Amino acid sequence: MRLDAQRIENTLYFSKIGGWASADVPVVYNALLLWWNTDFAVPLSSQLTLNEIKITDLSSESGFSYEIATPTPKPAGDSAEPPLPNNVALCVSFRTAQRGRSFRGRNFVPGLVRTSVTNNTVDTTTVATLEAAYNELLTVASALGADWVVVSRRANNDWRVTGVHTQINSAVVVDNTVDSQRRRLVLSISTTSGLGAAMADGDMPRARFQSMCDGTKEDWDCISQAMKPFIIELPDRVLTHLKMLQGDCGGFAIDRLEHCLQTATRAHRDGRDEEYVVCALLHDMGDILGPRNHADVAAAILKPFVSEQNHWMVEKHAIFQGYYFFHHLGLDRNMREEFRDHPWYAATEEFCRLYDGPAFDPRFVSMPLEEFEPMVRRVFATVKNSIYVPKAAPAPC
Ligand SMILES: [Fe+2]
Ligand SMILES: [Fe+2]
Repeated sequence: MRLDAQRIENTLYFSKIGGWASADVPVVYNALLLWWNTDFAVPLSSQLTLNEIKITDLSSESGFSYEIATPTPKPAGDSAEPPLPNNVALCVSFRTAQRGRSFRGRNFVPGLVRTSVTNNTVDTTTVATLEAAYNELLTVASALGADWVVVSRRANNDWRVTGVHTQINSAVVVDNTVDSQRRRLVLSISTTSGLGAAMADGDMPRARFQSMCDGTKEDWDCISQAMKPFIIELPDRVLTHLKMLQGDCGGFAIDRLEHCLQTATRAHRDGRDEEYVVCALLHDMGDILGPRNHADVAAAILKPFVSEQNHWMVEKHAIFQGYYFFHHLGLDRNMREEFRDHPWYAATEEFCRLYDGPAFDPRFVSMPLEEFEPMVRRVFATVKNSIYVPKAAPAPC
């Protein structure tokens, strides 16, 4: 987090039977990003922002570690009021079924606003909101198939050979008095006990070859490692690009982003599944870089993450949509007929007739983009089709 350009770090630990894999990182990242936005940030100043989430596997010294930048504009506290000075924080204590320092944890919450604190005492509403926010982490952990835990690495003033983790039962604010801390907060996800080595992208080892024909397995291990956070950030880049459609009406009654939101909202309200809704949301995202073939651009970006049918529908939607206007431009409105016998003709015709075609209504009230963001993140979290992902081995006969 950042407050007045100061980096503030908090640590949260999660443990899962069987441990964590790199594939879990986007799921954990999305869950924590959602928690920060909908629970944690509610009573805090908008000058407090969440700039990155660092996720570290602590099960071994070589466990993975990713520092993932949050979307821009950065998630921020909900209150428009200015924050108290940076060293003022509220302490939230994490309780387990056991007693003693090794079995307790805590976070210091920064970004408290002036009106929530009187004579160093935080008002009960703010305390209750933050307590509830932290207790919501029990649900977040459960949804991840994990436990929210405290981790103890020291005992009797010495390092433990193996860290001990204990399940948290509740989070409580012991007293409503503000605390002063010089250094606070990163959301860090630890997977099991043990000390992990955090590594920023700039510190990552790099391949040594100067010509690709000289590349070694070690080189490609470096590249693969560096690629992981870049892949995880793809939904952020997609959403940022989608937002570029805002304000560009291109002669239509509404701008291109609103058209995308209307298309997706209509599909969502009609009960379409999440992948379909995301396709509806992104079907025209190629407008900026591909004004002559925008459907191809959107389809190419979606291809690794969606079914062949949904991919085909997005790729061909421009031809099918043309049924409604090509004749006004001297083109053949029946261009789609070349696909008449295709198994996905009907689905694509339906997409244009029900969702894409009617989505130019200035009076229509669309869902905000923020409501679609988690859907985009979930759809982009699973690769269905890519030359860079090994095909599953055929099942034995
Ligand atoms: Fe289109
Ligand atoms: Fe469209």
